[in-house]
Amino acid sequence: MMFFGRLSLLASLIGPAIAATPAEWRTQSIYFMLTDRFARTDNSTTASCDSSMGQYCGGSWQGIINQLDYIQNMGFTAIWITPVTEQLPQSTSDGEAYHGYWQQDIYSVNSNYGTADDLKALASALHDRNMYLMVDVVTNHMGYAGAGNDVDYSVFNPFNSEDYFHAYCEITDYSNTTMAEQCWEGDTTVSLPDLNTESETVQNLWNDWITDLVSNYSIDGLRIDSVFEVQKDFFPGFEKAAGVYCVGEVDNGDPTLVCPYQDVLDGVLDYPTYWPLLRAFESTSGSISDLYDMINTVKSDCADSTLLGSFVENHDNPRFASYTDDMSLAKNAAAFTIMSDGIPIIYAGQEQHYDGGAVPKNREAVWLSKFDTSSELYTLISQGNAIRNQAIYKDADYITYKNYPIYQDDTTLAMRKGYNGTQTITVLSNLGSGGSEYTLSLSNTGFEAGLKVTEIITCTSLTVDDSGDVPVPMNSGEPRILYPSSGLGTTLCSS
Ligand SMILES: *[C@@H]1O[C@H](CO)[C@@H](O)[C@H](O)[C@H]1NC(C)=O
Ligand SMILES: *[C@@H]1O[C@H](CO)[C@@H](O)[C@H](O)[C@H]1NC(C)=O
Ligand SMILES: *[C@@H]1O[C@H](CO)[C@@H](O)[C@H](O)[C@H]1NC(C)=O
Ligand SMILES: *[C@@H]1O[C@H](CO)[C@@H](O)[C@H](O)[C@H]1NC(C)=O
Repeated sequence: MMFFGRLSLLASLIGPAIAATPAEWRTQSIYFMLTDRFARTDNSTTASCDSSMGQYCGGSWQGIINQLDYIQNMGFTAIWITPVTEQLPQSTSDGEAYHGYWQQDIYSVNSNYGTADDLKALASALHDRNMYLMVDVVTNHMGYAGAGNDVDYSVFNPFNSEDYFHAYCEITDYSNTTMAEQCWEGDTTVSLPDLNTESETVQNLWNDWITDLVSNYSIDGLRIDSVFEVQKDFFPGFEKAAGVYCVGEVDNGDPTLVCPYQDVLDGVLDYPTYWPLLRAFESTSGSISDLYDMINTVKSDCADSTLLGSFVENHDNPRFASYTDDMSLAKNAAAFTIMSDGIPIIYAGQEQHYDGGAVPKNREAVWLSKFDTSSELYTLISQGNAIRNQAIYKDADYITYKNYPIYQDDTTLAMRKGYNGTQTITVLSNLGSGGSEYTLSLSNTGFEAGLKVTEIITCTSLTVDDSGDVPVPMNSGEPRILYPSSGLGTTLCSS
């Protein structure tokens, strides 16, 4: 099955992609991969990769280029790749720097992933498809094989003396913001020397660097690592120098702590929603109401919920399927990610129902799935992206409409996004695969009596009844997505 997104329909009309603004990113859907773990230049689908070993496995930028059909046919319009800078070269008892968060030379690219020209070729292959490139960057720290402050600064380029860094102290309490910003991360094997980002010299080096990096590699957006460990006033200047949409990582579930970062950055990863989303669907007894409430909290606390990054999996947390192997629950969690507010981010391997636990086991090689396009989650994600892309194509205002939860019971959450007659209605369930078959009579959809709507997961035609309710056919705890039948065009449910 192939689902073509809005961008491919329009490709010939709008020309090549250009470095992108927040407004342009809002309409994207992002596939996130660790470059080392997605695809290899030799196209091997058997090359061994034991994620528990923490070693380089051979993924490359050319490998990603070779698999862009796999990504685009799932409906994605952008990719986010892990940091591209040159890393500490040693193997340590924490493994190698295959993930890219232990940089030593910010002016060179990591040769394990290819050459600078390969990275440029990746940007250009994406732009030829009207897709965007998001690159992960780390401004908080460098990486050094050693403990504590026993660091030979001459290995860093630039930042080659201790003057560029905060005086050594260990972060022992992440609830202390000053400590998180000024002390060092790291452990007894790998030290992460903490840059003095309050220093104007350090700020100028970062700002000049990001202007050049974005320009050299035609980058369309940035994901910024360890934002909570850098003082807030660093970011406006950095984002301006980048000139593209930036989404920051603040790894905390408290919206009152996370949302204020959206005052200094275009977006943040939606960790506040991540936790209640995981809890709602990780079992058949999860709390739907906590998730329902968090949708409203994030809408009111954050400056713009539609510019956050939505996710239920990433490389820092256990895979969803490590909590439950129930396919139906995994589908609901993925459907929420795509159909709620925020830019959807699906972590490579999620579509293959990978089930690795905590770091590093959650960093399995995607090539070992043989890039199976018939997996149940590949299909579900394709359907979700396709209807979202179609809704944006039909009504540009769809994407700024703030996700509105319209119904909840102990096992069901329904939410609306979009305006009169062109909205999507997403119905989620945590009954799991054993859930029985029944019809949910759903009110408050905003659809007019008599309107024909299509449930796009099962391609079932439905009619809104005289009192305005929609009879939604539920079964096996699977998610449901409704859209006016007349607006579907030829992209979905046309056999
Ligand atoms: C890998 O696959 C791509 C197309 O997907 C092809 O162009 C390339 O030649 C292949 N490389 C090898 C080494 O087989
Ligand atoms: C927070 O950390 C800073 C820097 O390490 C320290 O000076 C301060 O006493 C800490 N505050 C609290 C409340 O512990
Ligand atoms: C960008 O390219 C210029 C010219 O090749 C080079 O001098 C500079 O180091 C590059 N900067 C980055 C951040 O890649
Ligand atoms: C949507 O419908 C409401 C009433 O049903 C109406 O007041 C409003 O103008 C409509 N908005 C749009 C964008 O059509």
